[in-house]
Amino acid sequence: MTEGPQKTAITLCGSIRKGSVNEILRRHVSGKLREAGVAVTDLSLADFDMPIFNEDLEPDNVPESAGRLAEAFRTHDIVLIITPEYNGGLPPLVVNTLAWLSRQKLSPFRHAVFGIGGVSSGKYGTIWAQSHLRETLSKIGALVVPTLLGVGPNAEAFDANGVPVESAITYKVGQMVKELTHFSRGGI
Ligand SMILES: Cc1cc2nc3c(=O)[nH]c(=O)nc-3n(C[C@H](O)[C@H](O)[C@H](O)COP(=O)(O)O)c2cc1C
Repeated sequence: MTEGPQKTAITLCGSIRKGSVNEILRRHVSGKLREAGVAVTDLSLADFDMPIFNEDLEPDNVPESAGRLAEAFRTHDIVLIITPEYNGGLPPLVVNTLAWLSRQKLSPFRHAVFGIGGVSSGKYGTIWAQSHLRETLSKIGALVVPTLLGVGPNAEAFDANGVPVESAITYKVGQMVKELTHFSRGGI
């Protein structure tokens, strides 16, 4: 546990399907953040329904969930996003959510420190999706910690309790938790 006031985090998963393997990783990292003394709130994007972004919806038809999620980003020290890779990129759910959030004022991306990761069925473990997400978040002002938390193939990644089997993954999760709890941007 680091010194100073207790850090707060929100965690999100870019897949809302039942049985999501990314949800297993999100839950695992959430638990590790809690063990490190962080007050973690697990959110589901299923509770932040947003239509496909279209500028014609602004300003009169902006979904209230965009404002609600933006406020959660602004008011927590850590934002963890665990996402699948679709076709070498990001799933539409994540792209759409980021598009809406990027239009919210004040910026939801300039307060928290961000951690990103994901699980895929392929052995490359979402590395292309992570690269897209890191690039996008950085362009809109977010500070993303360096650890590359890509896990795959998912069939061999976790035991029945959702704990990573490979020591390399356990190490990376530990490294990410350390980075997320040690860096803080303060009230920018
Ligand atoms: C539309 C679509 C595209 C996909 N593209 C990729 C891909 O580019 N790379 C990859 O490793 N897996 C890909 N997959 C497989 C996902 O890794 C796999 O379905 C994974 O379980 C999705 O995450 P979830 O279980 O959290 O929903 C794709 C799956 C779908 C549905």
